[in-house]
Amino acid sequence: MEELINVGVIGAGAIVRRGHLSALKDLPEVEVKAIADVNEDLVKNIAREFQIPNYFSDPLKIIEDPSIDLIDICTPSNTHCDLIKHAARQGKNILVEKPLTTTIEDALEIQRTVVKAGVKLNVVQNWRYFPVVFQVKERIDKGYLGKIVGMQGTALTNFPAGWTRNKWLYHEGAALFDFAPHLIDLMLWLNGSDVKTVYAVGGDISGGNMGFVNHTQIIMEYASGATATAIISWVTECFTFTVDVYGTGGNIALDVRNAHYYEMHGVQTPLDDIRKAAGKTMRVAKDVLNKNYFKGSLLYFKPLIKDFITSIKENTEEPVPVRHGVMVTAVLCGAMESLKTKKHIELNFSN
Ligand SMILES: NC(=O)c1ccc[n+]([C@@H]2O[C@H](COP(=O)([O-])OP(=O)(O)OC[C@H]3O[C@@H](n4cnc5c(N)ncnc54)[C@H](O)[C@@H]3O)[C@@H](O)[C@H]2O)c1
Repeated sequence: MEELINVGVIGAGAIVRRGHLSALKDLPEVEVKAIADVNEDLVKNIAREFQIPNYFSDPLKIIEDPSIDLIDICTPSNTHCDLIKHAARQGKNILVEKPLTTTIEDALEIQRTVVKAGVKLNVVQNWRYFPVVFQVKERIDKGYLGKIVGMQGTALTNFPAGWTRNKWLYHEGAALFDFAPHLIDLMLWLNGSDVKTVYAVGGDISGGNMGFVNHTQIIMEYASGATATAIISWVTECFTFTVDVYGTGGNIALDVRNAHYYEMHGVQTPLDDIRKAAGKTMRVAKDVLNKNYFKGSLLYFKPLIKDFITSIKENTEEPVPVRHGVMVTAVLCGAMESLKTKKHIELNFSN
């Protein structure tokens, strides 16, 4: 029988309760041995609910436990860096929630530490795991769209007041570091190219009353020469998560939330519009009937963690490696800097 991978989870908040623990408990390759959260009452209750044998208020009790192989970090984004560095120096493999971290300096230090320690690190980019996203990636990689020249992404929602009661979410970067990591991850991964320059507009659309980024539009230039815009908002009365991809040989309209894409070549007629609408309706109806629709992106922690476990066992590259997390962080930080300075930001950094 194959040896189990012992997991210690750090953070017992919204994403752990709604996504990580059920995914981990469903994977026969792993065993959740311990959980830690600075909130003692919360961690005690979660340990009881999910039958986790050990719980602590001090995360170091898990990081320094020699019987733990993999640390799953699900704490506020600005706490990831210290926890990752500590875990890497203890020789632990690391699964970390998006975004990798909140400054480019920290991202580069994480990369150096992880590489030096020779451990594996994977960033949780679960929106990438909608099967429809893999289908689109395959179409692009096989050249069906020709050379990618442009992209347009949307990540729009209403204010996420019901997600967590904790106030850390409303730090200066807020929506930019919360929702944008999912969209920027897809826009980098689908195009397979780094971003070279970033320019962002918007910020606090309430005229300064909220005091954090709640709506922004980012213009990006890729190293490949392609251009892109990404609009990210917490203040729209709808939920959309889409990426349109434009190539010299055709376009794809990817609606991630509705698990549907439509590929277009040549002139689009009203008949094509009917086909698009019918295809999407059938697709969504199927997901509603099999009850997957309402789980949305929460369905995709399990396949992502499974792929990461395979990369650990087979010593292959992680599905979302640290290098990619660094690039996403660089775009987010570049956008933040651009919002403040109103300048184009060059993403030239070396490690
Ligand atoms: N992948 C996704 O779809 C998704 C969705 C939401 C949030 N997230 C990410 O997950 C992370 C956590 O978000 P959340 O919504 O669960 O937040 P949350 O506020 O609900 O939970 C965070 C928990 O971490 C605990 N904590 C804070 N500092 C700690 C420390 N140093 N050691 C141990 N525990 C500590 C808090 O007490 C809290 O219980 C963030 O990085 C966020 O960006 C990812």
